[in-house]
Amino acid sequence: MEFILLVLILASMATTIAARAKPGCNSTCGELDIPYPFGTTDGCSRDENFLITCSSSTSRNPIANYSTGNIQVLNISLDGEMRILAWRANQCYLPSGNRSSGENVNFSLNQFTVSNTKNKFTVIGCDTYTFINDYWGDRFSTGCTATCRNTTDVVNGTCFGIGCCQTSFPTGVRGYNISLKSYRNHTAVWNFNPCSYGFVVEDGYFNFSSLDLKDLRNKNDFPVVINWAIGNETCQKARRNATSYACMDNSFCVDSENAYGYLCKCKGGFSGNPYLSGSNGCRDIDECKTLRPCSGTCHNLFGSYYCSCPVGYKGDGLRNSTGCTLEDQSKRFSYKEAALGAGLGFAALLVIILWLYLVLQQRKLIKLKERFFRQNGGLILQQKLSRQEWTFSETAKIFTTEELKKATKNYDEDLIIGKGGFGIVYKGFLADNRVVAIKKSKIVDQSQIEQFINEVVVLSQINHRNVVKLLGCCLETEVPLLVYEFVNNGTLLDYIHGKSRALDISWTTRLRIAAETAGALSYLHSSASTPIIHRDVKTANILLDESYTAKVSDFGASRLVPIDQTELATMVQGTLGYLDPEYMLTSQLTEKSDVYSFGVVLVELLTGRKALSFDRPEEERSLAMYFLSNFKEDQLFEVIESGLVNDGNKETVKEFARLATRCLKLKAEDRPGMKEVGMELEGLRRAEKHPWVSMDRNFDESEYLLPDMSGVYVAGDSISVHTAYDSLKEHVLIGLGKGR
Ligand SMILES: *[C@@H]1O[C@H](CO)[C@@H](O)[C@H](O)[C@H]1NC(C)=O
Ligand SMILES: *[C@@H]1O[C@H](CO)[C@@H](O)[C@H](O)[C@H]1NC(C)=O
Ligand SMILES: *[C@@H]1O[C@H](CO)[C@@H](O)[C@H](O)[C@H]1NC(C)=O
Ligand SMILES: *[C@@H]1O[C@H](CO)[C@@H](O)[C@H](O)[C@H]1NC(C)=O
Ligand SMILES: *[C@@H]1O[C@H](CO)[C@@H](O)[C@H](O)[C@H]1NC(C)=O
Ligand SMILES: *[C@@H]1O[C@H](CO)[C@@H](O)[C@H](O)[C@H]1NC(C)=O
Ligand SMILES: *[C@@H]1O[C@H](CO)[C@@H](O)[C@H](O)[C@H]1NC(C)=O
Ligand SMILES: *[C@@H]1O[C@H](CO)[C@@H](O)[C@H](O)[C@H]1NC(C)=O
Ligand SMILES: *[C@@H]1O[C@H](CO)[C@@H](O)[C@H](O)[C@H]1NC(C)=O
Ligand SMILES: *[C@@H]1O[C@H](CO)[C@@H](O)[C@H](O)[C@H]1NC(C)=O
Ligand SMILES: *[C@@H]1O[C@H](CO)[C@@H](O)[C@H](O)[C@H]1NC(C)=O
Ligand SMILES: *[C@@H]1O[C@H](CO)[C@@H](O)[C@H](O)[C@H]1NC(C)=O
Repeated sequence: MEFILLVLILASMATTIAARAKPGCNSTCGELDIPYPFGTTDGCSRDENFLITCSSSTSRNPIANYSTGNIQVLNISLDGEMRILAWRANQCYLPSGNRSSGENVNFSLNQFTVSNTKNKFTVIGCDTYTFINDYWGDRFSTGCTATCRNTTDVVNGTCFGIGCCQTSFPTGVRGYNISLKSYRNHTAVWNFNPCSYGFVVEDGYFNFSSLDLKDLRNKNDFPVVINWAIGNETCQKARRNATSYACMDNSFCVDSENAYGYLCKCKGGFSGNPYLSGSNGCRDIDECKTLRPCSGTCHNLFGSYYCSCPVGYKGDGLRNSTGCTLEDQSKRFSYKEAALGAGLGFAALLVIILWLYLVLQQRKLIKLKERFFRQNGGLILQQKLSRQEWTFSETAKIFTTEELKKATKNYDEDLIIGKGGFGIVYKGFLADNRVVAIKKSKIVDQSQIEQFINEVVVLSQINHRNVVKLLGCCLETEVPLLVYEFVNNGTLLDYIHGKSRALDISWTTRLRIAAETAGALSYLHSSASTPIIHRDVKTANILLDESYTAKVSDFGASRLVPIDQTELATMVQGTLGYLDPEYMLTSQLTEKSDVYSFGVVLVELLTGRKALSFDRPEEERSLAMYFLSNFKEDQLFEVIESGLVNDGNKETVKEFARLATRCLKLKAEDRPGMKEVGMELEGLRRAEKHPWVSMDRNFDESEYLLPDMSGVYVAGDSISVHTAYDSLKEHVLIGLGKGR
């Protein structure tokens, strides 16, 4: 934990320090921070004046290499200052007056200057006078004299000429030489002052003591403050050359007061390295976080900030100023009144704008609805209505968008009862408490609109107890919505295979469901002017009501499935096991395709197996193929759901199976018509209901069993009633005959 903390601190330090060097450059040498324009290599420093040599042997004492030799650098500040170590001059004497040792100093900086404000030329001695001259010529020359007769004369900490002398020097000093001289070769003062010293030192660093007369306590060199600057021209000149100009984003230029060039500084409200651009350069300071200057609310701006007071308070919001104080009552009142007035005006304006907006929006909505209505065939529908071809209003109605929105609680996800390639089915509650299923198709192909409308018209007229009733439609939406009666007991698919699979569905029930479904399909195939082909007969499309009466759903509408890739996939997946094999050749679905699909439904009812299952071995995946092969090999009873067959129904089951195989014939023309299938099933059903028929092969009796044709079939259909009777009789005979 502590380790991590330490690492974090180090990392954060590293980033703040690293941010001041040129990217990719060493920002430190030993303990020295090296901000750009300084650098440790040629590429990292602005020019050779800013080159700091940092070798392993000197890493603790980084040096700058200047004309008089290597100078040790202590620290560098971006304010244009750096501290270095400068050596001192000294002169020592023997008691005889002969010089024992000592040297003067030549010290120079190529470009930079010795700070005239932060340094002092200091001389120590009791018989000493010195000169400090400009290294480069006669720009300046000054001196200092330090004398004393006795140590007792000296006042510790003062440098006014007694034992210690200090003096300033002018600006622009780029180097100096110090020469020490003596009046009497220290002969008179040798006892307590054998040596003279002279050096430039940072003001305040050196604190004179009488002990220094005997022997200077500081054996080392002295720190000196140097002023550095960029180039040797003024800002005004420097700005002219954009490539060499050193001041980057959000910074400004100042002429150096002491040195020859210029310096860059971050503008107010910014901090960073003004000689670098980007994230290492001058960046906005978030004063709100760093200074916390406001007692009110603080707002940071790019380069500045301001404080504000909450409503009802006045003041500048500054913590160190007036802050925020409560407005006095009378003022607040007038403020409130003003606010109220302005508020009312604004509100009125808003109301007007809102009203205008709503009116426009309403118009837009109406236009949109009209467009959708036209697009969805609403006009065709109206034409049909006007021509009185049918009486839509009696059986079905055109719903408005609002009605259906309300019914589905604005298409609440919780009300979704089905989803698939065709679209989404919602459960809805109409205002008159009717429960409905609302089918929201996907985008409809415009070329199929007329057909769609026709089917809506035909379907809405159909009133068959085994067909899910179409209650109406809504054409004002982008995609047409179809409203059906709600059938509450799920699908046949679920009933046979689903999780809530009812155990032991009796043979009678199966037979009834088959017969009901066949009746419905047959009715539609032979209906009205154009036969309606279902196109998607499968157990998932056969719904069951509370008394398990079959209700066929999704007529024709499946034709409107938009054929884009994904949806095709879903559709095919759902329908694959049921698809007429001839469709593969002709790409056309006919009434006989419905017969084939229905055959698969029959087999499902018989076997309790799914139409297509990838769990089964390959040859058994398609239930139809599997069933057909077993039927041929006379293994019928092996594939029939166990417990279904008993002595009483063995023959009916066999007959049912035979009918299924006929429906599954590969060639469409070999399959029976839906009407024939329906009649046969009805016959089987009655035979089952009245087992006495098997005892008595009386045709008169069986005639009684014939379905009530008038109730189911529409007159004028293609198959003559006579043929139907005949075929029914024939099959009933066969069925009963085999029953023996
Ligand atoms: C940084 O310094 C290290 C040694 O302190 C050296 O090895 C390295 O090359 C330097 N990198 C640059 C970019 O100067
Ligand atoms: C400093 O420069 C001089 C010549 O300019 C050179 O001889 C000397 O080696 C340099 N010192 C360092 C530490 O680079
Ligand atoms: C310079 O270095 C000295 C010690 O070497 C340190 O006390 C001082 O704070 C440093 N100044 C800056 C500006 O870094
Ligand atoms: C002391 O210095 C003066 C000149 O500065 C010189 O003439 C004189 O000889 C010196 N005395 C001794 C003893 O060296
Ligand atoms: C001092 O200097 C003088 C010449 O200036 C010389 O003759 C003498 O020997 C020196 N004395 C000593 C002790 O070195
Ligand atoms: C300083 O410079 C002068 C003249 O160039 C020279 O004679 C003297 O020896 C130098 N002193 C030192 C300590 O380098
Ligand atoms: C030292 O100062 C003198 C002026 O008194 C000057 O002429 C000379 O050039 C300087 N010495 C060096 C080595 O620059
Ligand atoms: C220097 O001071 C001491 C006492 O501190 C004194 O004895 C001595 O005489 C003084 N010398 C001179 C030359 O005044
Ligand atoms: C100056 O201070 C030192 C101790 O720092 C002391 O020994 C000495 O006597 C003092 N001298 C005077 C003149 O006060
Ligand atoms: C400084 O200015 C002089 C002319 O006044 C020029 O010769 C010299 O090269 C300049 N130095 C730098 C470092 O730019
Ligand atoms: C501007 O500065 C660049 C780089 O220092 C230099 O090469 C160029 O000659 C300068 N241009 C002018 C017009 O001074
Ligand atoms: C308040 O503080 C800011 C910065 O902290 C300072 O600039 C300003 O002058 C101060 N104002 C007063 C009135 O003290």
